[in-house]
Amino acid sequence: MLTTKKMNQLPHPNSWSLLFGNLTQLRKERIQFFINQQKELGDIFQIKVPTRKVIVVSNPEWIKYVLVDNNKNFTKSFAYDSIKIFLGNGLLTSEGEYWKRQRRLAQPAFHKEKLALMFNNMVEQSQKCINHIDSFADTDQSINLNKELYKLTLDIVNSTLFYNEVDNTTDRIYHLVSKASEIISKRIDSPFQLPDWVPTLNNINQRIILKEMDELFFSIIDRRRQKQESHEDLLSMLMEAKDEETGEGMSNQQLRDEILTIFVAGHETTQIALSWTFYLLSTNPEKYKIVLKEIDETLNGELPTAINIRGLHYLKQVIDESMRCFPPAWIMGRKTIEKDVIDGYEIEADTNIIMPIYVVHHDERIWEKPYEFKPERFAMDEVKEKHKYSYFPFGGGPRLCIGNNFAIQEMQVCLAMLLQKYKIEIDENFVPELDPLVTLRPKNTMFAKLWKRN
Ligand code: HEM
Repeated sequence: MLTTKKMNQLPHPNSWSLLFGNLTQLRKERIQFFINQQKELGDIFQIKVPTRKVIVVSNPEWIKYVLVDNNKNFTKSFAYDSIKIFLGNGLLTSEGEYWKRQRRLAQPAFHKEKLALMFNNMVEQSQKCINHIDSFADTDQSINLNKELYKLTLDIVNSTLFYNEVDNTTDRIYHLVSKASEIISKRIDSPFQLPDWVPTLNNINQRIILKEMDELFFSIIDRRRQKQESHEDLLSMLMEAKDEETGEGMSNQQLRDEILTIFVAGHETTQIALSWTFYLLSTNPEKYKIVLKEIDETLNGELPTAINIRGLHYLKQVIDESMRCFPPAWIMGRKTIEKDVIDGYEIEADTNIIMPIYVVHHDERIWEKPYEFKPERFAMDEVKEKHKYSYFPFGGGPRLCIGNNFAIQEMQVCLAMLLQKYKIEIDENFVPELDPLVTLRPKNTMFAKLWKRN
């Protein structure tokens, strides 16, 4: 008969202060903390945190168990409560029947046929980006690559899913998302939370940012309602959706939460993936050469189309490998509803399960020389042999990222067009430090020089 061990028998990091448990260490080191502890304690361990039960799991099979096999016993972890403050009850943070209904409503906007219709739009936006940066090419001036890609990914979400309803707001959205990420991370790190009405600096900032987000996103809804126009975009789909039983449409608050969620989830992650991809290519000239050859031979100087893009196999491997090296969402969390068993340990109800994507993507038992950039790993035969959850940049199970295919298509188009047009050199003084808040942004700005290729 199998005997289960108690959860408090799980190993835990040694150094911990009376008040904050392992949190002080975690706050300081974040990613390195998880890497070190996995090496020392194994694929499952607990973190001593006051006010919460937290365990860390980094074995692909157990991750599959949480995300897929027994997903009904898990809700989103405590971290999502902080995200919810800003995003409300949108797709990323909602649960249960409500989430299921909303997901059903939004899903058709991401179907294959819809993505095919968005293709030309993605090309158009990438061309606009090229027109904007072209005057910097062949000069000594550098561009702020992060910023240009931020604008590009925002423009793509805006034009494909919201019919350009949000205009000229890149800087404002960048500011709001950055500030919100900082506040969310501080809240996640802090076991003791003062109520929102206490006027701490964090709470005051939180209120200001929320107010600005509300203004921006409610005004989008108002504008669309006033125009009384319908477009075949996500916004119209959500606005026209009716509850099957009551026949009621979504309230402005529900709409605000859904569109803000898609907006935020839909651009920052892709921008980060693109930025790190340019960095990796720029520092791996051999791989850069291979991808350029493929682009030149396949596109033949033409713009990408939904057909010819399929021939860019190596580019797809570059994208996959880039998200292995730098997964834009570097960590995920769930919480047990009822008690459960993982690796023979009885996990109590209401326990947070952290799944550090970054750690699994750099596990040398799975990935040979994990810190090397080797797109060839993703050639079909090689990757087929690995456990499906050795690589999960988009999560998995029923809560798999709704925008995964959108993001891949978008990255293929943007990379193919920018690489076709320019030789891109990241400033040699760029230091690739990580800033692991909600997403895995580079800590330092990436400046780049552009050289025209033809
Ligand atoms: C490289 C780009 C992207 C990455 C790495 C990424 C990553 C992820 C991950 C890991 C999750 C799962 C979170 C969890 O289960 O806790 C997720 C969910 C989600 N993503 Fe993405 N994402 C990307 C692009 C996008 C895009 C382009 C959109 C929309 C246009 C989007 C919208 C969403 C939404 C709405 C959810 C919540 C889905 C649900 O729970 O039903 N993401 N994403």
